[in-house]
Parts: sequence; structure tokens; C-alpha cells
Amino acid sequence: MGRLDGLVAIVTGAARGQGEAEARLFAEEGARVVLTDILADQGARVAADIGAAARFVAHDVASPEGWAEVVRATLEAFGRTDILVNNAAIVRALRLEDTEPELYERLYRVNQLGVYLGMRAVIEPMKQAGGGSIINIASVAGLKGAGSLFAYASTKWAVRGMSKAAAFELARYKIRVNTICPGVIDTPMNDGNSERMMEVLVKTTPMRRMGEPREIAEAALYLASPAASFVTGADLTVDGGMAL
Ligand SMILES: NC(=O)c1ccc[n+]([C@@H]2O[C@H](COP(=O)([O-])OP(=O)(O)OC[C@H]3O[C@@H](n4cnc5c(N)ncnc54)[C@H](O)[C@@H]3O)[C@@H](O)[C@H]2O)c1
Repeated sequence: MGRLDGLVAIVTGAARGQGEAEARLFAEEGARVVLTDILADQGARVAADIGAAARFVAHDVASPEGWAEVVRATLEAFGRTDILVNNAAIVRALRLEDTEPELYERLYRVNQLGVYLGMRAVIEPMKQAGGGSIINIASVAGLKGAGSLFAYASTKWAVRGMSKAAAFELARYKIRVNTICPGVIDTPMNDGNSERMMEVLVKTTPMRRMGEPREIAEAALYLASPAASFVTGADLTVDGGMAL
């Protein structure tokens, strides 16, 4: 018996990193999964590797039309939508005074607008399924001040705020909305950081290591599963103590 038997999940940004780990773990636990990403070849390869329980849809989370297609494809392939993980995001390490409006808007569109569009797109199918679980990936940068991450941090604080507002509103439909706030996780998102920067990040983590994508996937599995049936509006911090 899997913990997600019979359920259907959409995971954005699932071509690699945490999204890939979530898609793989959800499938292991009995879910059927639609993976989406702008990295089409990589995403299709992961879905093919998972097998018959997975589909891939090329998708930019900032596109409203793209969301309509993802929901349509999910219903066509698997007949329902129970779980959405809004995982896709981009990061740029810049201070407020160096952040140009174009850059700010780009992060806003992917990290914040994309999460809003995703939540809105699944309300109707989740109502039809009798409820659902939306998991929005925020960050420790959405829990405290963050040096040199001005635009990114602003989007992650917004993700937490939107999640609480949506949790309040959607409870009546038995749709739960929670966030996960990861600390430093070993994924390609950190590839642009210098060795020195990674050392500092690990040193400021009380557990003195990066997290693995699978450790975030386990948290997402809990929030997606019936084990979290009374949990909504929560921020689940998975950071080795970084935000303490
Ligand atoms: N890695 C970390 O240290 C860390 C820390 C805190 C929070 N997070 C958050 O965790 C989540 C997953 O990040 P990750 O670490 O796996 O990073 P990652 O860069 O490995 O994966 C992000 C995925 O999102 C995809 N993506 C980017 N823009 C997209 C768009 N417009 N539409 C669809 N897909 C898009 C990318 O192609 C990529 O596959 C993100 O929300 C990130 O902000 C990461």
C-alpha cells in the first residue's frame, strides 16, 4: 500500500532537483504524476524513467495558457487532480541596490505569479475530486532577511502569504494549502554559487551540511498524503536548523 495510492499529482519544475525527487517519490508511493518544466528533454526523460505512472508536459509556470494545458493534459491522462506542488522557481543573487526592474519582474513572474496561476488552475478539478493538497515551495529566504537575495526573498515571502490566504479561502472545498521552506539543498540551483559561498551556507546551518532533494520530497509526501488531513496554512521548515 502506497501513501498516495489512487491520487494524481502535478509537480512543476520536475525535470531535476527537488521537483524530480518529489515526482519520483510520489510515484513510488502509488500516485500518478504529471511533471512539468521548461527543460523539455530533461523532463521527458525523467517521466519516461518513472514509467506508465508519469507524463511530462512542457510548461512555463508564468503562462496562464500553459496552466490550462497542464490541467487538461492531467485530466485526459489520469482523470483527476488531487495534489499540486508549485516547485519551479529561479534565483538571482543580487542586492536591492543592484536589482534592475526587469530582473525583479522576471523573478516575480516565475516564482510568485506562477504559484498564483497554479493554485487558481487546480481549484475546479480539486473541487471535483472532493478536495486536494497544494504544496508551495517557499524558502528560508521567506522566513527571515536574506543578504543579496532581494528579489528572490520578496517572492518567497509572497508565496507564504498567498498560501495562508488560499488556505483560508479553500478550506471550505477541503483543499489544503501549505508551504515547505527548504534550507540549502544540493541541487543545480546552487551551481552558480562559489565554493566559498557554499562553505558559508553550510557553516550557518546547525546540522553542518546541505539537504538532499529527497529530504524535501519526504516533507512534500507528508503534506500531500492523508496523514496531513488536518494540516493547512502551515510552513514546514526543512533546513537543518538554518532559520533558527
Ligand atoms: N536548492 C536550494 O538550496 C533551495 C533552497 C530554498 C528553496 N529552494 C526552492 O526549491 C524549489 C526547487 O528548487 P531546486 O533546488 O530543485 O532548483 P533547480 O534549479 O534544480 O530546479 C528548478 C526547476 O524549475 C524549472 N523552472 C525554472 N523556471 C521555470 C518556469 N518558468 N516554468 C517551469 N519550470 C521552470 C527549472 O528548469 C528546474 O528544472 C524552488 O522553489 C526553489 O526556490 C531551493
